[in-house]
Amino acid sequence: MSDSIDLAAFPRDFLWGTATSAYQVEGAVAEDGRAPSIWDTFSHTPGRTDNGDHGDTACDHYHRWPEDISLMRRLGTNAYRLSVAWPRVVPGGDGPVNARGLAFYDRLVDGLLEAGITPSVTVYHWDLPQTLQDRGGWSERATAEHLARYASVLAERLGDRVTQWATLNEPLCSAWIGHLEGRMAPGLTDLTTAVRASYHLLLAHGLAAQAVRAAVPGAQVGLVTNHSTVAAASTRPEDVAAAARMDGHTNRWWLDPVHGRGFPADMRELYGVELPEKPGDSETIATPLDWHGLNYYFPATVTDDPTGPAPYAREVRLPDVPRTGMDWQIDADGLESLLMRLTDDYGVRRLYVTENGSAFPDAVAPDGSVDDPGRTGYLEQHLAACARAVRKGAPLAGYFAWSLLDNFEWAYGYDKRFGLVHVDYETQKRTVKTSGRRYAEIVRAHREGLATI
Ligand code: IFM
Repeated sequence: MSDSIDLAAFPRDFLWGTATSAYQVEGAVAEDGRAPSIWDTFSHTPGRTDNGDHGDTACDHYHRWPEDISLMRRLGTNAYRLSVAWPRVVPGGDGPVNARGLAFYDRLVDGLLEAGITPSVTVYHWDLPQTLQDRGGWSERATAEHLARYASVLAERLGDRVTQWATLNEPLCSAWIGHLEGRMAPGLTDLTTAVRASYHLLLAHGLAAQAVRAAVPGAQVGLVTNHSTVAAASTRPEDVAAAARMDGHTNRWWLDPVHGRGFPADMRELYGVELPEKPGDSETIATPLDWHGLNYYFPATVTDDPTGPAPYAREVRLPDVPRTGMDWQIDADGLESLLMRLTDDYGVRRLYVTENGSAFPDAVAPDGSVDDPGRTGYLEQHLAACARAVRKGAPLAGYFAWSLLDNFEWAYGYDKRFGLVHVDYETQKRTVKTSGRRYAEIVRAHREGLATI
């Protein structure tokens, strides 16, 4: 099913972007002074990733970035969300700055600007220097302070050209999936460590936001968080309560403190872990932001699970609903509803969809083309949902499709393809998929003033 998109809803200066992250696309893990991150360690640990895949080469974006900028131009996009690899820029985490690592981002930013593409830079997208993990990683307060210093190094160097800054990408995944569920680096399964990590990540966010602002007058600073709508699997009171807990775990734990409400009391009690709070932290965590970035992929339906891990709510798999190749339910209404929640409940005054997209098992046809109707439909439905939210008052200023390229999908390796552009990992050949061509049409139609498409 495809929906028509109310293009006239989007402001004239809307950012039409694509997104990637450093470890997922760059490769060149041992070049120009880069040190290992927790993802190098994790992905090289047997059994941690599908097929033992790792980011050693990935999309070789470190060398092929000019071609990748040309692809962005072909799509007609006017923005690109990238992340910087902390272990390239400050390989020891808190030690000397690596000029050669920093120079890569200088070249990339200059290339983007020359192509008329606005760079939106994320300071931290999960690639913690391994040396900091060896000293306790996100369970230690010092890691937050080191991130702020690394953010100032970046801001001082790139801030004359980059105004769009995000501190962190999806701290939920770093904390919950990395430290509680163990499915992502550093692969831990301990509630106390996970809760401490969540706290220090949000503290790092606030400190980094302040550091970027101090270095870049006029910087537009935001945070990128991922969310799902949460529904109860039944009307049983136990399931309804489970849905409230999952909403706390997935949504309120991250949004409440950042938007000045503090950590939710019900979830503090549920986790039962003392937060490593110091005076002034809650104000730092709630540093006013210029924008909030929403990453949205799927909704959740949950049932009570008293013997499972926190938050004692288990996702149920609904039958007969459309799904992506990740087995994630497709529900564009969830995006509309989360945009409205950020607007109405949290009072966010500028929003971006900083990631949204789908994986499908794409195949290259004998004629070399890649037809991906599933992803094309997903894109259209979610853009239609964005337009509906804008009509209802959501201050949406841009949309970044995840992802520009097929890339290293973390523990799922290379089999899960999210790109608008197909990557043949043997040859590094890039092929724009049908979804990429459709995105280009939509972007062009908006630029030309078409009301709908
Ligand atoms: O690939 C990831 C990305 O790194 C963070 N957000 C979700 C994407 C798809 O799983």
